[in-house]
Amino acid sequence: MILENLGKTWEMEDLGSKTVFSGVSGHIQRGDKIAVVGVNGAGKSTFLKVLSGNTEPTRGSVKIGANVAIGYFSQHSMDVLDPKKTVFDTVQEVLPLSNIGVIRNLCAAFLFSGDEVEKRVDQLSGGEKSRLVLATLLGRPLNFLILDEPTNHLDIQSREVLLDILKEFSGTLVLVSHDRYFLRSLVGRVFEIGQGRMTDYKGDYEYYLSKTGRDHRAV
Ligand SMILES: Nc1ncnc2c1ncn2[C@@H]1O[C@H](COP(=O)(O)OP(=O)(O)OP(=O)(O)O)[C@@H](O)[C@H]1O
Ligand SMILES: [Mg+2]
Repeated sequence: MILENLGKTWEMEDLGSKTVFSGVSGHIQRGDKIAVVGVNGAGKSTFLKVLSGNTEPTRGSVKIGANVAIGYFSQHSMDVLDPKKTVFDTVQEVLPLSNIGVIRNLCAAFLFSGDEVEKRVDQLSGGEKSRLVLATLLGRPLNFLILDEPTNHLDIQSREVLLDILKEFSGTLVLVSHDRYFLRSLVGRVFEIGQGRMTDYKGDYEYYLSKTGRDHRAV
């Protein structure tokens, strides 16, 4: 993915405009595992929406390589689930060519076992809905995952499951997470957003912390 002079300004009717970032240029290479960090309101979610095509940049462009298949997760992804469908049907819908065993295995990998696959979406907890959306995402043949706080509603066991699956994932990952264990385990590059700029740290999370001395702050 090639980012060229990328900028985003949100226009709000009564509050004026807010430039979240500008002048962002750079390459995201195949297989990069990138954390996007910054304080609340810095613009992490906005940046991920721009990368995933969920909102247009105000300036510049995002060029996507051939054969890149993007999957995007945010807290709003749960809203697109059909409340009347079961867990099984929801997974089957995104994997129509897979047999029952494959679908059940995928459900089980995301901790829906036995009869739980027959639960309807409107009977699921927030954490279960998150798990279901992640199952539909990670079961598909995607090679570029853009995940905005995927662990928010997950308990410790579910977080471990997701972490193990993401460690195995050989594609490109852009991740926002407040879970430092995730960041330490997964990423090899850090984008920090703040004061309208983005800084690219070409190293893992420890490297980012040592360069910035921000280890005392939640980022
Ligand atoms: N749809 C929108 N319309 C107008 N302004 C928005 C919109 N989405 C975000 N903003 C503004 O853009 C700024 C960055 O928000 P964003 O959600 O990207 O931050 P964030 O870094 O993800 O924060 P958090 O850590 O709280 O999730 C904020 O000032 C926010 O109010
Ligand atoms: Mg956010």
